[in-house]
Amino acid sequence: MVIQAPAKLNLYLKVTGRRADGFHTLDSLFHTIGLFDTLTLTDRADDRVRFSCSVAAFEGADNLVVRAARLMGGRAPGRGVTVHLEKQIPAGAGLGGGSSDAAATLMALNTLWGVGLTVAELAEAGAELGSDVPFFVYGGAAHVTGRGERVNPLETTVSGWCVLIFPGCHVGTPAVFRGLGLERGQQRLTERPFDSIMTSADTGLQDGFWAELGNDLESAAREIAPEIGAALEALARAGGKRARMSGSGSAVFCLAPTRAEAESIRQRLNVADQWSVWVVPLLARP
Ligand code: C5P
Repeated sequence: MVIQAPAKLNLYLKVTGRRADGFHTLDSLFHTIGLFDTLTLTDRADDRVRFSCSVAAFEGADNLVVRAARLMGGRAPGRGVTVHLEKQIPAGAGLGGGSSDAAATLMALNTLWGVGLTVAELAEAGAELGSDVPFFVYGGAAHVTGRGERVNPLETTVSGWCVLIFPGCHVGTPAVFRGLGLERGQQRLTERPFDSIMTSADTGLQDGFWAELGNDLESAAREIAPEIGAALEALARAGGKRARMSGSGSAVFCLAPTRAEAESIRQRLNVADQWSVWVVPLLARP
């Protein structure tokens, strides 16, 4: 079975507070994009999980793919799988690559092994693996709250293209959240009602109310990695509107309504040697 695991962007990300257990609570609009890792899964005659990856440093039992396979293995005694992961999504970029690989593994094994979990059950199982995993079980556009486990899939996705820069540096999620300096149990903001997100997400790229919202993690991440600021400024100079960071960084992006407009921003970009740049579409739920 060959399955593509998409990256995500946080079109906006508000940190509403910090829970007693240390996790931060979010109010964010997540959206999958057309940048993919590829997983190839082959059923085995024994009950082992074998894993290989195009990036040797990611091979090992602590990879989220292996942990996802073991989680499903608990529900399918005697079954085994060989998984190969071809990475294209950079890690430590705020694009959710590892979480998407884990969600893809859960969904693929649910089918391959005939486990029979519902989408909601897969999302709940995924929350054990990482905060972003439940979102990727749904994909498309979703309003995400809690520490990431409360996923409200939106019927309307945002159609458009993004110019995406990975400025070559990896930022650790815990360090960025720590940079906010919130105390455990501290509440900062109230989250937006889901209904207002539903009705505003379809007003389009230019007028959507989310366009006014940014990413609360951006300044903390820029302090850790100045390249993030440089990439945001490069996008703005190239004519990108409302350039912002995704997740806890380091990837930054701007949106454009058409592929042609996104390509022309890319052509005007002054790209440093270690940066990667993609022009990819926002993706609807499969
Ligand atoms: O769940 P995940 O593995 O993505 O989280 C990595 C780390 O990022 C957590 O251990 C925590 O320090 C921080 N985090 C957080 N609040 C979130 C998600 C992550 O504080 N909502």
